[in-house]
Amino acid sequence: MKTFYIETFGCQMNAHDSEKVIGTLVSDGYTQVEQLEQADLILYNTCSIRDKAEQKVFHRLNQFKKEHGKGKVFGVLGCVAQQEGERIFERAPFVSLVAGSASYSKLSQMLVQLEAGNRRVTGLSLDTEDAFETPFTRRDNPHRAYITIIEGCDKSCAYCVVPFTRGPERSRTSDKLLEEARDLARMGYLEIQLLGQNVNSYRDPSPAGWDFARLLRAMGEIDGIRRVRFTTSHPRDFVKEIVDAIDENPVLCNHVHLPVQSGSSSVLERMQRLYTRDDYLRRIDWIKKARRNIAITTDIIVGFPGETEAEFEETLSLLEEVQYDSLFNFKYSRRPNTPALALEDHISEEEKTRRLTILQEMQRDIQIRRNSALVGIVEEAFVEGYNQATGQWIGRTTQNRPLNFIHPEFPSPRDGATLAGTYLSVRVTRAGPNSLAGERVN
Ligand code: 5AD
Ligand code: SF4
Repeated sequence: MKTFYIETFGCQMNAHDSEKVIGTLVSDGYTQVEQLEQADLILYNTCSIRDKAEQKVFHRLNQFKKEHGKGKVFGVLGCVAQQEGERIFERAPFVSLVAGSASYSKLSQMLVQLEAGNRRVTGLSLDTEDAFETPFTRRDNPHRAYITIIEGCDKSCAYCVVPFTRGPERSRTSDKLLEEARDLARMGYLEIQLLGQNVNSYRDPSPAGWDFARLLRAMGEIDGIRRVRFTTSHPRDFVKEIVDAIDENPVLCNHVHLPVQSGSSSVLERMQRLYTRDDYLRRIDWIKKARRNIAITTDIIVGFPGETEAEFEETLSLLEEVQYDSLFNFKYSRRPNTPALALEDHISEEEKTRRLTILQEMQRDIQIRRNSALVGIVEEAFVEGYNQATGQWIGRTTQNRPLNFIHPEFPSPRDGATLAGTYLSVRVTRAGPNSLAGERVN
């Protein structure tokens, strides 16, 4: 029996890549194990967004090697694999496979080479026309399924490593995507989440030539699918038709994640984001004017090279103006190959930390205010599971807010019966900065 162990870091794209990698391995006769010690092959699917991501990968690899390394084959996948390439063999000589996501369609061939004893197997070409797909994907969640609609990224944001790690944009055909979604619905999945580094630049390569809004509309019409989400959007390519589509069909969730990165037009220009603060706010205005109450979330980077105090304050004022429902925040960190490496005037670590803390505190207050305003209303919660520690069911609203609740008639899972995978009406009774609590109503 051939066994493998896999560890995954990074975004949802990476998580879904691992689902495809696992499916490929299983169809090639491997068995997944949960313990390192039991594995013949140890795979590490890496992310390079965070500061010192490379060091952390080597550190973890060395840990693997030290603790359970005897006689095992090691593979590094994902963004750090693509970014570091063959250097990985030098710094971690026990590694035998280095492959980026643009090469996963060759994974089976690479496994054959590994089995033949080849100890320098690589998949590092970014020169690819197709997006990796496999019918064997092992989906982690029994109710919610990811579908990749577009791989790669053609933008060149000055801070971002993704164009170098995931390669150029490749969209999948609309008929393949709809077929996959219909199959998932038949298998009992209730939610789908459309994935891409920039879903808004989706372009159907088939003669139908659909854009993203058209695809989104069609996904909302699939029998059996109760919710459709999508991530992530680039503001430059975010068109009003997307808001119109959400407005017209409740299956399309009330949530748009629209990463802004900075509230200052001058910083946005240095970041090569291709929009100004005003352009961005126009899009926010479309979303806020929708009939449905669409949650807005974003990503922010503080301390981009040369960011002045005044520019940082423009980000704060943007938060006040938009009133985001939630956000991911990052301290700028230098990434290999990126255009921002050429910029001078780097901000000190302490200063980045100071700015981040101010931003987080401000956003926390905004979230407390926004969530508190929901107390008393009834929301539809999709039940994801049960939390033994708190005695609450774990739910999520269409706006993607966690809504954990008690159910008077069904206080906990019993005799194998569970509420997971159902949609229930829940009255919000309490609000925190990051989640809501509630009680099931009829
Ligand atoms: N430094 C800090 N944050 C970054 N992000 C991407 N690259 C960097 C970087 N070099 C953040 C952006 C992006 C999110 C996924 O990660 O905010 O939207
Ligand atoms: Fe990390 Fe970006 Fe790669 Fe996702 S695409 S794994 S966030 S580096």
